[in-house]
Amino acid sequence: MPSKKILITGATGYIGRRLTHRLLENGSYELRLMVRNRRKVQVAVADEVEIAEGSTFDQPSLAKALAEVDTAFYLIHSMGTDSDYRDLDRESAENFRKACIAAGVRRIVYLGGLGVKETASKHLLSRIETGEVLSAEPDKIQVIWLRAGIIIGSGSASFEIVRNLAQKLPVMITPRWVRTKTQPIAIRDVLSYLEKSIALDYDKDLVVDIGTEKLSFQEMMKQAAEVMGLKRFLIPVPVLSPRLSSYWLILFTPIPYRLASALVEGLKSETVLQNDHASKYYPSIKPLSFTESVEKANNALEQNQVLSRWCDSSGEKACDIKDFDDPSGAVLRDVRVVPYGNGETAKDVFESACELGGPKGWYKYNIFWKIRGFLDKVTGGYGLNRGRRLNRELRVGDALDFWKVADIREGKRLLLYAQMKLPGQAWLEFDCQPEQLVQTAHFIPRGILGRAYWYSIVPIHNLVFDDLARTVVRSSKMLSGQAGEKV
Ligand SMILES: NC(=O)c1ccc[n+]([C@@H]2O[C@H](COP(=O)([O-])OP(=O)(O)OC[C@H]3O[C@@H](n4cnc5c(N)ncnc54)[C@H](OP(=O)(O)O)[C@@H]3O)[C@@H](O)[C@H]2O)c1
Repeated sequence: MPSKKILITGATGYIGRRLTHRLLENGSYELRLMVRNRRKVQVAVADEVEIAEGSTFDQPSLAKALAEVDTAFYLIHSMGTDSDYRDLDRESAENFRKACIAAGVRRIVYLGGLGVKETASKHLLSRIETGEVLSAEPDKIQVIWLRAGIIIGSGSASFEIVRNLAQKLPVMITPRWVRTKTQPIAIRDVLSYLEKSIALDYDKDLVVDIGTEKLSFQEMMKQAAEVMGLKRFLIPVPVLSPRLSSYWLILFTPIPYRLASALVEGLKSETVLQNDHASKYYPSIKPLSFTESVEKANNALEQNQVLSRWCDSSGEKACDIKDFDDPSGAVLRDVRVVPYGNGETAKDVFESACELGGPKGWYKYNIFWKIRGFLDKVTGGYGLNRGRRLNRELRVGDALDFWKVADIREGKRLLLYAQMKLPGQAWLEFDCQPEQLVQTAHFIPRGILGRAYWYSIVPIHNLVFDDLARTVVRSSKMLSGQAGEKV
């Protein structure tokens, strides 16, 4: 009997994490996840799947990941990289197709973007080329190529843009591209198409365009605002360059320039369905309307149930936090030691540290964090706007304002790696020892500029880090009190 092993690549990304949960809920599949950093897979998930660590740029790891696989999901892109991501995307897809053929995989399922080659932006072109490379040997391997436009779901980049603009700007000056038509789709429906592609009764290559009603970005903004009970005024202007629009987006949304400009470029020309294969081959899926998908995404946010976010992964050539969990090579440090002395436990203090950032902020000197975040944002960084996925829980790889969680040892250690623009590398570590908290800011300066930066902010560190360590310990008492009340 043929094996029904399913491989999910990109399993730590926005789509991949959600697909993993969907297929685990389904319960009928043997799942293997291919990830670049196994520590990004949550323990609860890791217990139920096989994990193959590897990269599409590393052939032996690909061969291992694909052994005995029936259907392989290709949910990878290289857009975050500095070098030409189109070349990397082609190379990655080529390696994957060859390795799938060598391993005897029956079917590849790929999720790309809507759009036609003649008018596609660089990002969309790369997504189209990826599909073409994967489908280059139809006699040897079958490819189901799903093509989606804007995906609406909690934590998706497009939804974050729509939501933030609708919430923050009662009046908006809108450029021409906001009137171009596209066909958005709810993340829930994307997952249904992906899931149903495993057992689809069809044995040739198939391109399936998926989406709901035709809407412009302007219409989406208005409808999203209505769902949130807000009235918004959009004033069209004939000229507002895509570059200016992208700056506008980075100021008012958590999205960095690279993503904002890819989105704006992508919306300059129509991205609508080119075939009716979704309704023909997947008749049981009735896509949600745009407003229904906004309602669902809002509910997930309100209920603090965000499974993945656009900033979980990097698209860089290697995982952005792999091997960044050991700051012992740092040459400059700010160490604060706070003994507990008030009945706190290491576990309470750890939990208190895990609640930092996002809407709660960074305690008394939050204003300095905000200024740092603003400076980061205007110099092309993430700033504080990414916030956090959930109010309490953190997992390795989660974005936390301008940090990324590089290591978690339950009840003992939280290590954050700085992704702000810096002349060096920095970490913030909370080492929750049995009797005391040792909080350390580690820094590896880049040349003289790095050292000058560090010493120039020593007075601010003295205020901020001292308060932070003390308040993390003090608040842990309140947290353990709350836990006690609940029991
Ligand atoms: N999200 C959307 O709104 C959207 C809309 C339309 C289409 N799509 C398509 O859906 C697919 C998945 O997108 P996504 O948003 O889920 O991306 P994502 O969140 O950026 O995740 C990308 C994933 O790929 C992994 N990865 C990157 N390069 C790799 C390599 N060389 N080898 C192995 N793994 C690698 C990353 O691992 P690390 O965690 O280690 O970085 C991460 O798990 C893409 O083809 C995209 O075009 C997405």
